[in-house]
Amino acid sequence: MNKKSQKIKNRYNRVSKVYDLLEKPMEAMSMSKWRRVLIRKVEGKKVLEVGVGTGKNLLYYPAEIDVTGIDFSKDMLEKARARVKNKKNIHLIEMDAQNMDFEDNSFDTVLTSCVFCSVPDPVEGLKEIRRVCKNNGKIIMLEHMRSKHKVIGKIMDLINFIPLNIWGANINRKTMKNLQKAGFKTKDIKYKNIWTDIVKLIVIRNRK
Ligand SMILES: C[S@@+](CC[C@H](N)C(=O)[O-])C[C@H]1O[C@@H](n2cnc3c(N)ncnc32)[C@H](O)[C@@H]1O
Repeated sequence: MNKKSQKIKNRYNRVSKVYDLLEKPMEAMSMSKWRRVLIRKVEGKKVLEVGVGTGKNLLYYPAEIDVTGIDFSKDMLEKARARVKNKKNIHLIEMDAQNMDFEDNSFDTVLTSCVFCSVPDPVEGLKEIRRVCKNNGKIIMLEHMRSKHKVIGKIMDLINFIPLNIWGANINRKTMKNLQKAGFKTKDIKYKNIWTDIVKLIVIRNRK
């Protein structure tokens, strides 16, 4: 793992102790509702969740779905393990999304929520998702990104160093562009703006 990735991983290890507390206002606003919406969109029985964090989505998967969750922060994963300790259908593995150990075409659905703000090389991570998801499989993402609004986008660039240094998240990622750089075709990407043009629910049909 390179230095940049190690740095972000360390930041998540550090913030893991207070992550759920910091995120509480988001959950209260509408994040927990959106988590359920994401899971309802899952197709097939084999699902990969990338960047599971403390496992906030994991409780919503039905028992008949086999879920593999990965994260490169062992301390975030530890919290997730405690959360799902009685769930036999959930398997948690410490793994880097930029270099996954899975074979090509392993999963029916790949899901992420608030992850591609942090993956150090987002295009590499997205390429890996494309690879491990089956042909015609589904990719579901809830991600925040840089606004296209001239002034707001600039402000996001200016203050990006704050969340980046505290816990490792960028607020100015160009995730829609990154999806194309990773090889996804525009016609296969559907999205809905959830909060202005910053938070998007993205659904991709993985046509290879
Ligand atoms: C903001 S948290 C979101 C956690 C969770 N998905 C949620 O909705 O609460 C981002 C997570 O992505 C993980 N992450 C970032 N880059 C990663 C990578 N390259 N490989 C695996 N996990 C990564 C971080 O460790 C962190 O747990």
